[in-house]
Amino acid sequence: MLIRQLKREDLDEISAAHFKAWYETYSPDFLPLKVIESMTLEKWRESWQRNLAPCNQDHHLCVQNNAGEITAFASFGANLDPQNSDEFLGRMLRIYVLKDYQGQGVGRALVQAGTEHLVKQGITSMTVHVVEANTPACRFYEHLGGEVIFHCLVDRVGYSIGEFTYGWRDIRSLLKPQNT
Ligand SMILES: CC(C)(COP(=O)(O)OP(=O)(O)OC[C@H]1O[C@@H](n2cnc3c(N)ncnc32)[C@H](O)[C@@H]1OP(=O)(O)O)[C@@H](O)C(=O)NCCC(=O)NCCS
Repeated sequence: MLIRQLKREDLDEISAAHFKAWYETYSPDFLPLKVIESMTLEKWRESWQRNLAPCNQDHHLCVQNNAGEITAFASFGANLDPQNSDEFLGRMLRIYVLKDYQGQGVGRALVQAGTEHLVKQGITSMTVHVVEANTPACRFYEHLGGEVIFHCLVDRVGYSIGEFTYGWRDIRSLLKPQNT
């Protein structure tokens, strides 16, 4: 599995991958249709333009298949959330594995790679935010040792959406064991 950092030249492909992953992940069981539809390909492109700008300090990773297509991606950086940034210094900003590639260890590998980066920066704790109805992602975070540290309602285009924050107090437990 090839995990590498995203580059500005990846803008079109990562925007398309995010658009696809968003529709694969969020059915109206998880989020109101208006919220799902509010994120167009153009909006993802604008978002990734900001993410991949030289001034952006976050660490953006992707996984490619043998044909060189992006099949998964994740971002890691400083936790800027005033609720818990003194206790949890890092944040996993997003993680998506396209449906055809799920359940094959890709998500764990991305978390390990992102954690390795944070630990190298001296950051040993982390949070992630997740829509509360996204039960599979919640179970994934719990399986990796995350604990719910906060619940809130966030406004998404006029809809109030429940969101959990999961926290890891010591992300060194997520690092890949040495010599394996
Ligand atoms: C959640 C997600 C990132 C997990 O990635 P993945 O590649 O499917 O997961 P992996 O195959 O790496 O699984 C790693 C471990 O977690 C476990 N796991 C994964 N999903 C799980 C679930 N829903 N319930 C329980 N355990 C789960 C696996 O069994 C595996 O265990 P092991 O390593 O101890 O054998 C991926 O399914 C995904 O992208 N989902 C849609 C997007 C999404 O919801 N992103 C989160 C938004 S906040």
